[in-house]
Amino acid sequence: MKPIQVGLLGIGTVGGGTFTVLQRNQEEIARRAGRGIHISMVADLDVERARAVVVGDTAQIVNDARQIIANPEIDVVVELIGGYGIAKELVLEAIAAGKHVVTANKALLAVHGTEIFQAAAEKGVMVAYEAAVAGGIPIIKALREGLTANRIEWVAGIINGTTNFILSEMRDKGLDFDVVLKEAQRLGYAEADPTFDIEGVDAAHKATIMSAIAFGIPVQFDKAYVQGITKLAGADIRYAEQLGYRIKLLGITKRTDSGVELRVHPCLVPAKHLLANVEGAMNAVVVQGDAVGTTLYYGKGAGAEPTASAVVADLVDIARTLDADPAHRVPPLAFQTASLNSAGQALPVLPMADIVTSYYLRIRVADEAGVLATITRLLAEAGISIDAVLQRQAEASDGTDVAQTDLIILTHATREGDMDTALAKIQGLPSVLAEITRIRKEELN
Ligand code: HSE
Repeated sequence: MKPIQVGLLGIGTVGGGTFTVLQRNQEEIARRAGRGIHISMVADLDVERARAVVVGDTAQIVNDARQIIANPEIDVVVELIGGYGIAKELVLEAIAAGKHVVTANKALLAVHGTEIFQAAAEKGVMVAYEAAVAGGIPIIKALREGLTANRIEWVAGIINGTTNFILSEMRDKGLDFDVVLKEAQRLGYAEADPTFDIEGVDAAHKATIMSAIAFGIPVQFDKAYVQGITKLAGADIRYAEQLGYRIKLLGITKRTDSGVELRVHPCLVPAKHLLANVEGAMNAVVVQGDAVGTTLYYGKGAGAEPTASAVVADLVDIARTLDADPAHRVPPLAFQTASLNSAGQALPVLPMADIVTSYYLRIRVADEAGVLATITRLLAEAGISIDAVLQRQAEASDGTDVAQTDLIILTHATREGDMDTALAKIQGLPSVLAEITRIRKEELN
């Protein structure tokens, strides 16, 4: 059978890895796909960079991506440009030209996925995106196909390697966030502009995509709650450790009776839980299904060949079903497209006030009689039950003469809106001397 012809848009780290993996493993890949997979065109503004990757004249190199889209010989366009700008235009143009699309672009799908999947359905082409979530870990395949028998209950994961590296270093070396961020940039783990990683946006893009596939709802990045790690203090990492927890940036999406939770924020995780032991730049995702129970997926979430592994897997899937009736292919968001919107109306993404979780609180107070009693009374009045309390001499005081102490409180599960009410009252107490730190806690069981 004639090899499928692929055009790469962008040949940076992942594009280079895709080229290398396809060349190195081409025989086995062709045996699996039932036909060869050939990158016959590469578009990159930096033509010299492309020439350094493309060995011999196996592929035509151009600096205009639209030359690939216009070529009738090209079956699949692989978009590795990133972002929502030109990448969106090119993906929609490729679909309009009848090309199948493979993309690693989580931002594009989390924000514009509904429009893109709709356009693809109308043209009868596939949009595959295994590389968009957790790099080399086949989590899309697992959620969409392997776990298809299940009613998924929740998904929680470490889905940003940069922030996991930073948190691991903060804990291991007792360093502050700013110091470790600089080190991560020096080592190439963090981008020169790390905003999307450290503010939780990248993880939220990925959580949004997993939420859609897990629960059969449209991608709704605008409804995701996003909080990064920039405000995490070393003291909280140390106190958490003393209480038997580690702090991780988690992407969480959970089905409840009233809707779907979709949130990214730092989280206390029991130190013995597998997720707590995912260190450095590694990723891991836990999925809870009603039939299978708990499953865990672990691996590299970024890098040239791990991400290429996912891109090539998508190319193989496309090669296998290129000639199939579109109705017989796996739906892009796991659920038949027609069922997505109606199910979405029935299952809204919940506002944060309605999510239910437990909490770690650190409250800097004047060390005087009755303070702890007042705080616990205000929590009790809001219906919040305390799990553990720790009192530690403040690591640094604000220079006043008042004796200060840190109260660290773990609560049982409560509605976030009730916690907001209680904390507003506690924050207003004269003996509370600094902004209260609140970190959500997940037992993941
Ligand atoms: N910047 C991401 C991370 C990888 O640090 O995990 C690509 O999403």
